[in-house]
Amino acid sequence: MTLSHSQLAQMASDGYLLLPALFDADEVELLRAAVPEVIVRQGPEVIREDGDASMVRMIFAAHTFNETFRRLTLHPRLLSRVEQLFGEPAYLFQSRFNVKSGFHSAGWAWHQDFNQWHRLDGMQTPNAMALGVFLDDVNPCNGPVMVIPGSHKRGHIFNPDAMDIPDADVAAAANDLGIIPLMGPPGSVVLFHSLIIHGSAPNVSPWPRRIFYMNISPISNRELSPKREWFHCDADGPALVPLPDDCLRQKVSA
Ligand code: SIN
Ligand code: MN
Repeated sequence: MTLSHSQLAQMASDGYLLLPALFDADEVELLRAAVPEVIVRQGPEVIREDGDASMVRMIFAAHTFNETFRRLTLHPRLLSRVEQLFGEPAYLFQSRFNVKSGFHSAGWAWHQDFNQWHRLDGMQTPNAMALGVFLDDVNPCNGPVMVIPGSHKRGHIFNPDAMDIPDADVAAAANDLGIIPLMGPPGSVVLFHSLIIHGSAPNVSPWPRRIFYMNISPISNRELSPKREWFHCDADGPALVPLPDDCLRQKVSA
């Protein structure tokens, strides 16, 4: 359950890693089975698509109110790799379930996650990453996350007012480094550095593209002083302690 030397080297040089089918079909079914409970949640942690309040775009902090997603954030197949990359235990300061339903879901402008965590949550050091678990097949048609490999080495492009990066900076980085879509079967996992430039197109395909993101830092990186509500950022989360490998299946029998 550890990353190989070449995977560690790829994370360092490209700023991202794709781990195909880390969860099996049964585990993906268990994750999908948790979605109806999460999606009907009412409250400010549920963000809706612009122009269509009936469509959920994203849900913050599902791990705090749903047992399956709580267990996923403590899964040893994830945490073993994360600890290897950080060299110490991690804590989770934000989770986001991006629903990206078929036909009418908007995309995400090019950005660096660190810009949001810096300007809204007070993070000073980009020693953090996002980890995404695919609940669906992610393919060229349903709006995969696209990354500019190696762009995390170009530093922070500060925007004090919004998430977006100026087009000229995206073009310069993409023309030098290219763009990679992060695709794979359900149960795949992606890890990316907080400074990597990434975005995604709208999903006009008939197929949903659901990804559960954990945004994490090493436990020693305690720099957060959030200006936002609790569900956006938890500055005081404990070190993540892994559950047994069958923790998703155990929930069914619990
Ligand atoms: C994000 O960058 O926060 C979301 C991108 C995506 O899931 O398409
Ligand atoms: Mn992002």
